[in-house]
Amino acid sequence: MNKKLNDVVFLFLFCGIVCLIGCNNILSEKSNKSRSLSNHFKNHFHLGAAINENTILGNDNKSKEIVVSEFNSITPENSLKWMFIQPLPGKFDFKVSDKYVNIGSKNDMYTVGHALIWHAQLAEFMQNIDNKEETLFHVKNHINTLMNRYKGKIDAWDVVNEAFEEDGSFRESVFYKNLGQNYIEDVFVLAAKVDPEADLIYNDYNLYKREKRLAVINMVNKFKANGIKIDGVGVQAHWDLNTPSINEIENIILDFHETGILVSFTELDISVLPNPWEMVGAEVNQNFSKFEGDPKMNPYPNELPNNIQDKLAKRYEDIFKLFLKHSDKIDRVTFWGVIDKYSWLNDWPIKGRTNYPLLFDKDYKSKKAYYKLLELKTNQN
Ligand code: G3I
Repeated sequence: MNKKLNDVVFLFLFCGIVCLIGCNNILSEKSNKSRSLSNHFKNHFHLGAAINENTILGNDNKSKEIVVSEFNSITPENSLKWMFIQPLPGKFDFKVSDKYVNIGSKNDMYTVGHALIWHAQLAEFMQNIDNKEETLFHVKNHINTLMNRYKGKIDAWDVVNEAFEEDGSFRESVFYKNLGQNYIEDVFVLAAKVDPEADLIYNDYNLYKREKRLAVINMVNKFKANGIKIDGVGVQAHWDLNTPSINEIENIILDFHETGILVSFTELDISVLPNPWEMVGAEVNQNFSKFEGDPKMNPYPNELPNNIQDKLAKRYEDIFKLFLKHSDKIDRVTFWGVIDKYSWLNDWPIKGRTNYPLLFDKDYKSKKAYYKLLELKTNQN
């Protein structure tokens, strides 16, 4: 009788321990899940990250793990740009972009297409065309081919990227020169025809500068008046520890909200390094190679001092407090990269520096800024 009782007690205890371990795992998974950034902000805005080719091709699975567990939106850092997708007239290469789109579909992520029309990273054959007919043919073919291929898989397109100069004038790109200043409207009209379901976005940088922002606002208002579909403005948000001010960022949000479209912060990163143009005046297009190797311009080559780490965390906290204040006007916030090590800012505007602009460090570890964002009061806590 005792033996039987002992067996029952042992079995009971064993099941109890197994159940406890199981619950703990579920809790930890849940707590991991609830730790995720996108879950913390999920009732406020999409939270995304730009992913590079290595992550897309499975050569950097640690970055991919961070992306699928912490974010609910993705943008291709380079893989959908014209020079990679259609390097030669009519010759399309979707090897990488198909894998990119599959990551979004498989993980139920808000998937962004970046970018249909952009003067940079444009295939060489496009840069040398000097007539309207040929330009228009390739623009139509590019947009029809990409948007039809990814209809229902890409949720939003950066239809046109960086079409204005800092003073609000049109950038004299090959599209502007060959198609005229209405090319932006024409491209948006075409995009809306090809995929009426996709969100159509105009994307640009330095929109805290009033003249540039006004030029985009005027364009948006003209689109609205003419019944041309535009769903959002993409504010790239390549900022630093001080510029733009929170007030200047708030002006961006309020001004675009007035036009009736949603604002997305599409390429957020915060440089902690000195800006060379502060040394040599405002012209941002100069070549700064003379600063390469200058320790003054690369002050933290090996690691970020705690006091700067704290400043970065405070900067992200201030920015996200503003985003939460206006989350009714914001559709998405996307970081321009996953870990510091692969940020474009390590080589721009000066090659060979060590920057620390993102939420995860070179060893894929969450930084102070990451935890600061999780501490922010949202309607998830
Ligand atoms: O693909 C080549 C590779 O074959 C070659 O070996 C390597 C040698 O350097 O270069 C590779 O191309 C690089 C490309 O990124 C893909 O990695 C280019 O040199 C490099 O200049 C290019 O930089 C990208 C930059 O756009 C180009 O302007 C950055 O990664 C990307 O983060 C950045 O993203 C842009 C957005 O699309 C639009 N908004 C501004 C933002 C920053 O410029």
